[in-house]
Amino acid sequence: MLPEPVLERAQREMLDWRSSGMSGMEMSHRGEHFAEIAAKAEADLRELLRIPEDYVCLFLPGGATGQFAAIPMNLLGNRRKMSYLVTGSWSKKALAEAKCYGEAQIAAAPEKFTTIPDPASWQIDPEAAYFHYTANETIEGVEFPFVPEVDLPLVSDMSSNLLSRPLEVNRFGLIYAGAQKNMGPAGICVVIVRRDLIGCPLPCTPSIWDYGLQAREGSMLNTPPTYNWYVLGLVLEWLREQGGVEAIEQRNIEKANLLYQAIDGSDFYRNPVDSRYRSRMNIPFTLADSNLDALFLQQAEERGLVNLKGHRSVGGMRASLYNAMPIGGVKALVEFMQEFERRYG
Ligand SMILES: Cc1ncc(COP(=O)(O)O)c(C=O)c1O
Repeated sequence: MLPEPVLERAQREMLDWRSSGMSGMEMSHRGEHFAEIAAKAEADLRELLRIPEDYVCLFLPGGATGQFAAIPMNLLGNRRKMSYLVTGSWSKKALAEAKCYGEAQIAAAPEKFTTIPDPASWQIDPEAAYFHYTANETIEGVEFPFVPEVDLPLVSDMSSNLLSRPLEVNRFGLIYAGAQKNMGPAGICVVIVRRDLIGCPLPCTPSIWDYGLQAREGSMLNTPPTYNWYVLGLVLEWLREQGGVEAIEQRNIEKANLLYQAIDGSDFYRNPVDSRYRSRMNIPFTLADSNLDALFLQQAEERGLVNLKGHRSVGGMRASLYNAMPIGGVKALVEFMQEFERRYG
């Protein structure tokens, strides 16, 4: 979900952005108004995450999936190998895409996507160009509470937890995130990459995926998704008003604790994830009797509790508690869950 004040502001500015006589949807990406919007979004992102000067911020189309391909194309250089930690459906997809460009190796993969293998067991080839992991597995609800320590440039898919907690950007070679969880509408992806890692793409790299070219062109090598970029900027402003990532992290901890306590305090609900690695953002849970799933979802929806169906690959339920979800939303879900259990448990 997007923060309501952001949607209201977008509504107010829809027909006439700051007396420009234009909607954000109508602006030329080369014009002064959009230049202002783009620069402000980047400045706010840099401030929120304290992004060091030697990192480039790119705002690209193609979602995080586009980056599954762009990362090997840009970072392989003259190496052949890449190292991937597979902890869930999204890292598995990233690995599959990387295989088109070289020898993508699995550093470790648990039998079930409910935990993170012990870092001491990871097999990392020192010849690899980079090490990739998914900081939060959106489907399975497995989140890294730590930053892996590896001797290779560290690449992280943070699509579903970027801006939900503070981050030491300088420990990473590259961070990427599709906007549609914590940053804005779908259709734009943020890439934060250390400058010295770019500029040597594979010869087959399409110019739109060439980080060096995109950096030189201010992410405007072609017409960017301008409206999505604009709304992303509004979300960043909202986040700054909330007190930034430090403040939002406290709220996210509180929200997640509330739901996990409700699940753990009941025999009717269950979350399968290793308690050390439970996600604050995506909380999957099952009912003791899966025949009740449809009824649960229907009654939840009648209360305005929507989008609770688990991903089709894992079933059950999943509550996504992104930054914009107020604590009241989690309280309403917990109350409903307790009531449902009393009635059908
Ligand atoms: C962790 C993660 N990576 C990648 C993706 C794919 O993102 P996109 O649909 O923007 O390509 C998602 C989408 O939900 C995701 O959650």
